[in-house]
Order: sequence, then structure tokens, then C-alpha cells
Amino acid sequence: MYKISVIPGDGIGKEVMEATLHVLESIDVEFDYTFADAGDEHMEKTGVALPQETVEIVKKSDACLFGAAGESAADVIVKMRQELDLYVNLRPVKSYPGTKCIFDTLDFVIVRENTEGLYIGMEEETEEGATATRVITRKASERICKFAFEYAKKTGRGKVTAVHKANVLKKTDGVFKDTFYKIAEDYPEMELDDRYVDATAMFFITKPEMFDVIVTTNLFGDILSDEGAGLVGGLGLIPSANIGENQGLFEPVHGSAPRHAGKGTANPSAMILSAVLMLEYLEENDAARKLENALVEVLAEGKVVTPDLGGNASTMEMAAEVRKKLEA
Ligand code: NAI
Ligand code: MG
Repeated sequence: MYKISVIPGDGIGKEVMEATLHVLESIDVEFDYTFADAGDEHMEKTGVALPQETVEIVKKSDACLFGAAGESAADVIVKMRQELDLYVNLRPVKSYPGTKCIFDTLDFVIVRENTEGLYIGMEEETEEGATATRVITRKASERICKFAFEYAKKTGRGKVTAVHKANVLKKTDGVFKDTFYKIAEDYPEMELDDRYVDATAMFFITKPEMFDVIVTTNLFGDILSDEGAGLVGGLGLIPSANIGENQGLFEPVHGSAPRHAGKGTANPSAMILSAVLMLEYLEENDAARKLENALVEVLAEGKVVTPDLGGNASTMEMAAEVRKKLEA
């Protein structure tokens, strides 16, 4: 029995969470859920977007399912990444049938460093304008590269590519690139290479099948993973995992979509696929494959799908259809 903390949050976050929990009832894995508050609604009620109690509940759980926050997202999700030291941001770029993807055969993963780089928030106004500090430490580079290789090994992937700009950012990305090759020595069976970030952005469009696992720094990973999402069609489909030494938090890439909230028509796929990532994290791989396959069947049939996928099903109707496949 796994202890799972559940933070539905705001807007469609609550709707896709309800749908996902409904689907998870048909999985052969036992969960003990603890619900916790965070987000705009909680902020309006209490003046706090992320109560400490929620952080403690997440800390005590084996994994966390997170829906979406609204305007308070930065205070909720960014703060949670820091408090829980969730140093990995894992984003699969995977094509699913029945979706409007640019490429229909992609299956690679971006492993983004989640705690440092240009996103440490050290900016300063100067007389001429402003400066930002980019911090790349050996420690953070080591653990993210190690995670990438371990993930590749565990999931049967054969190649890891480091993405950087070490020709210009000689010192910072020099550390990242050197660390990558140092860690790679422990994985002699793994194919590896490194690419510049600008060329990578182009290869995403021209030859994306060349990638398997990408490991990169914070800002580059942020940009490339949105580009990756664009390759495989739509925010309603893209999950993500935030992983630390002792914690994992799984969330759709999308936000609370206020214009869609309350209509019951949000696509639950991204949240369901986030639950697939959670099952993989818990090493419940059979259950993960079953859940993913059930969703893929529903997507491929294209009959009981939400409006963004060209159907007219509600969030819960689509969830019920996924559940039907699981129980078939
Ligand atoms: P958003 O991801 O909420 O929505 C953008 C658009 O994408 C929507 O209008 C909709 O057309 C489409 N979309 C997203 N998810 C969908 C789904 N499941 N099914 C069908 N269509 C879907 O991003 P937006 O509009 O930039 O932000 C809205 C709010 O969400 C803001 O308050 C923002 O701060 C917050 N946000 C929270 C995030 C988080 O909690 N991790 C991440 C991104 C935004
Ligand atoms: Mg982003």
C-alpha cells in the first residue's frame, strides 16, 4: 500500500485529478490517499498559497499527484521543488495515436536539472540594465547526469545526449559537459554524445528520432521540453515528473486553464500519464504499462475523447472509457 499525497489545486486541476483517481481504482496497486490544499482557492480562503501542512503531507508520502495551481503556481510548484529538493524534471516526448502530433513515432525523454542554472533568481539591476547569475555546480551536474544514465538503464534506453553551450558558456557549461563525461565512465555500455542547445533545437524539428535520453541544465531544459511538447501535440497530453532523493511529484505540464474550468471538458490524459510516471517511479511497471495502454486504446479509437482531441466526451466520460479498457 503506497501513501500518496493528492493536491488537486485549482481549475481543471481538480477535474483531471478526479478523473485520474477514478481510473486508478481499476489498477492492481493499492493506494492510501491523503488530500492536501494548495493554490489560488486556498490562498483566497487563508492568505497562503502553499501551507506548510501540505509540504509535510507530501514529505510523508511515497509520491504526490499534483493537478494544477492558477496564478499562485510559482509560489506553489516552484516552492515545492525547492523545499523537497526535487532536482529532476523529467518530461517524456512521446507520440500517441489519435492526437494531432507533428511526428507520430517519437519516444524520447528530457531530463532537466531543476534547482540551479539561470533559475536561481539571482538578478541584479545595474547602471546599464541588469545582470543574472548562472550557477552550475559539480554536485548538481553529477546527480542529474547520474539520474539520466540510471533512468536510461532502468528503462532500457540505449543513448544519453548532454545538451549545453560549452563553446560560449565555457566555464559553466564546461563544468556540466565535463561532469557528464566523468559520470558516463560508470556506464560503458551506454551510447552517448553531446550537442549544442541551438543545434538541438533544430534537430528536434529535422531529425528528432536521433534522441533517446537528453540531459541538460535548467533553462535549456525548460525551453526544449516545451518544444518537445509541441512536437507531440498539445498541453492536454503532456505529463511530467519532479523527482528528488526521497520524493516524487507528478503533474501535468498544463495549468488550471481557467477558461475551461467548471465545464468538465478538460482532457484528463496529461494527468493520467502523470500517474503512469508515478507508477514507474514506484517500480510498478506492469501497472504503468496497463494504464498507458488503456489510455492509448481510447486515444486511438478516438470515439470517447474530449473536445481538444476532436471528440465531444466529458472529462469523466473519457476517464470511464479508460477504466472500461482496464477492466476488459
Ligand atoms: P494552461 O496550461 O492552464 O492552459 C493553456 C491552454 O491550453 C488552455 O486555455 C487550453 O486551451 C489548453 N489546455 C491546457 N490543458 C488542457 C487540458 N487538460 N485539456 C484541454 N485543453 C487544455 O496555461 P495558461 O492559460 O498559460 O495558465 C492558466 C493558469 O495556470 C495561470 O494562472 C498559470 O499561472 C497556471 N499554470 C500553472 C501551472 C502549474 O500548476 N504547474 C503550469 C502552467 C500554468
Ligand atoms: Mg516551461
